[in-house]
Amino acid sequence: MSIDHAEFQALGRDDANSVESILADDAVDFGVLAHETPVGGDAVFTWDYDRSRAGLSKLYERAKSSQWNGSTDLDWSTDVDVEAVADEMSHAMAPLRRLLTELPGSPLQSWGERDWARLAVEAFRWRMSQFLHGEQGALVCTAKIVETVPWIDAKYYAATQVMDEARHVEVFSRYLDSKLGGGYPVNPNLQLLIDDVIRDNRWDMTYMGMQIMIEGLALAAFGFMHQVTQEPLLKKLLRYVLSDEARHVAFGVLSLQEFYAGLTGSEIRERQEFAFEAALRMRDRLMMHAVWDRCGIDRETITKMLFEVRRPGVNPFQASLFSKIVPNCKKLGLLDAGDGWLRDRFTEIGVIEFEDAPDTEIEYELLDAVAADRGG
Ligand SMILES: [Fe+2]
Ligand SMILES: [Fe+2]
Repeated sequence: MSIDHAEFQALGRDDANSVESILADDAVDFGVLAHETPVGGDAVFTWDYDRSRAGLSKLYERAKSSQWNGSTDLDWSTDVDVEAVADEMSHAMAPLRRLLTELPGSPLQSWGERDWARLAVEAFRWRMSQFLHGEQGALVCTAKIVETVPWIDAKYYAATQVMDEARHVEVFSRYLDSKLGGGYPVNPNLQLLIDDVIRDNRWDMTYMGMQIMIEGLALAAFGFMHQVTQEPLLKKLLRYVLSDEARHVAFGVLSLQEFYAGLTGSEIRERQEFAFEAALRMRDRLMMHAVWDRCGIDRETITKMLFEVRRPGVNPFQASLFSKIVPNCKKLGLLDAGDGWLRDRFTEIGVIEFEDAPDTEIEYELLDAVAADRGG
């Protein structure tokens, strides 16, 4: 089947920035107790048990010796002052807050410090909730990779990641329940992306959506929060999770580099389109509509305002998202493949300036050193 690329509409939208389409996607309901979605692709058995992929093999060995226990390695008796932690995170949002308030007719002009403090607490709970749901997405996606990837070294490694992700779901869930008083439902953009990743029958698309896009954001956001927070339980939790996540993204980059080298131009183009759609989903997810809603600012108003104040780097979460995704796409050769289609798209949405940020391989080396001194 050939794809008419001229007709390509990201996420089926006439315009990637259409407020109407963004609001429609944001209204998708994923249920209260459970959500079911079809799984694509074949389970693959390999009879080639040779451990021929040295990079993956090294990651697997590393993973086996880096297991930690969320029940015993973290001090769950720590008292957490939610407002103080939320306040630490909100300092970095000050430039965005100022720009949003200064817009003519901005409903935020009447906000006092109590309103902003409430937003900070809700944003913190929401963010931790999306990490929780994303971790469950990673758990399910990685289990799918164990089944669908044809290489034995990758099956071994992915099996360790399944365990890592179960532990991540466990610790985020426990932190939300016992320290933050519960969380938010999944953000529709995040779940729509996870569903796409699970439904696709090409095994490498699971890597692209999960290991590169979703975990790329996780790595960036966890790193940012780990840096700013002084809350000892959260800081240690994030440091442990981060050292696992760095391995996960490295697993994705390593596997895809090898696989992409054997693809045709048209197959690469499909990967570029998938990467761009995933990047848009992640961008839209960061608009945190549910939080603004709860604080009395409706979704349409805040979406339009966020587009008006778009500046490189003004939203630290968005900046950190693209500071991982763009260099990793570049490293995979997706940015400039073919006619540089993905470079053009990233230029259009104003994120190409992140192309030379450190890619995850460099970061993995740094975080691996953190893992080595764990327990200190
Ligand atoms: Fe994780
Ligand atoms: Fe992960």
